[in-house]
Amino acid sequence: MKDYKDRIMTGERLDSDEAFAETSLRPKRLDAYIGQKNVTDNLRVFIDAARMRDEPLDHVLFYGPPGLGKTTLAGIIANELGVELRITSGPAIERAGDLAALLTNLNDRDVLFIDEIHRLNRSVEEVLYSAMEDYAIDIIIGKGPSARSIRIDLGKFTLIGATTRAGSLSAPLRDRFGVISKFEMYRADELKRIIGRSAELLRVAIDERSQTELALRSRGTPRVANRLLKRVRDFCQVRGSGRIDIEITRHTLDSLGIDEKGLEGLDRDILRLIIERFDGGPVGIDTIAAAIGEERVTIEDVYEPYLMQVGYLHRTQKGRVVSRDAYAHLGLKAPDLPENPQISIFEEESSQ
Ligand SMILES: Nc1ncnc2c1ncn2[C@@H]1O[C@H](COP(=O)(O)OP(=O)(O)O)[C@@H](O)[C@H]1O
Ligand SMILES: [Mg+2]
Repeated sequence: MKDYKDRIMTGERLDSDEAFAETSLRPKRLDAYIGQKNVTDNLRVFIDAARMRDEPLDHVLFYGPPGLGKTTLAGIIANELGVELRITSGPAIERAGDLAALLTNLNDRDVLFIDEIHRLNRSVEEVLYSAMEDYAIDIIIGKGPSARSIRIDLGKFTLIGATTRAGSLSAPLRDRFGVISKFEMYRADELKRIIGRSAELLRVAIDERSQTELALRSRGTPRVANRLLKRVRDFCQVRGSGRIDIEITRHTLDSLGIDEKGLEGLDRDILRLIIERFDGGPVGIDTIAAAIGEERVTIEDVYEPYLMQVGYLHRTQKGRVVSRDAYAHLGLKAPDLPENPQISIFEEESSQ
């Protein structure tokens, strides 16, 4: 079996996404941020209101799949507010003292961005509660009987948390965010604009059909769109033609095993496995995980969301089921089932 780390079509950051290139493609202002209108329209109002009242912006929580622009938007908010941005992540803050050090360095209005905030440990999370609510923290000085607690006032900062799993956030933490925004997958026309913008920044010429083709195969994810654009640019360079056209685009995507729906080899392997070994399902997630040799969470977070989004895979109470469309996509004949197998609206297991 191939390793999922070889994947191209994941929204998660890969080692091959050089940090510099990713940063250079990030829009810096709200006006340059494409899509996610539901999120940005509200934020624009809140940012303006906070600035007019000269108050800190409410704490903001972003959630949604990787690669949709959460970190980018956090940076934009700090820019629009004209304040410093500090970036850290849940797993990076190991002890309460680490968080205290970060917090005491913040000035009024500054933005603290905590990525993967669902991975904060309990003791750290508790420090965050009073910091978010009262702009103050209590720390213990000394040990044993002489230990005493002192209160430290903090700057009136804004916390922006990001997570791919809103359901794994504890209720007390979630409740302390004034703004909670869900990120959606991008439409093809939005991705096309993102690709056009990135091509300009990368100084590579690309024709309109290629932009559309890449947009359609990018799984609704800007990070994937930018990654594909860079791969096509590589092919283009090696071939020696100065402009990305539809031939080179299709050639690149075919070489990478990415089909018209944006599925790559491993996605098709999963569908084929369920069809060939389990008659199309229902089959339990743990059985699928064992059969393809992946962790269950990897399947749930990395593979399944898009397969469900395009309607090839459904979660039912009895397990995962492949749809008729999936058979058609793989060029296989679906068994004679009723047109609409009963799909439960309830998820088989709570995966959040
Ligand atoms: N709305 C957008 N407009 C333009 N580019 C975007 C947008 N959202 C994301 N990107 C691009 O996608 C890449 C990944 O975005 P990022 O903010 O790191 O996603 P997340 O934090 O949600 O995983 C960035 O480098 C950025 O160039
Ligand atoms: Mg991010």
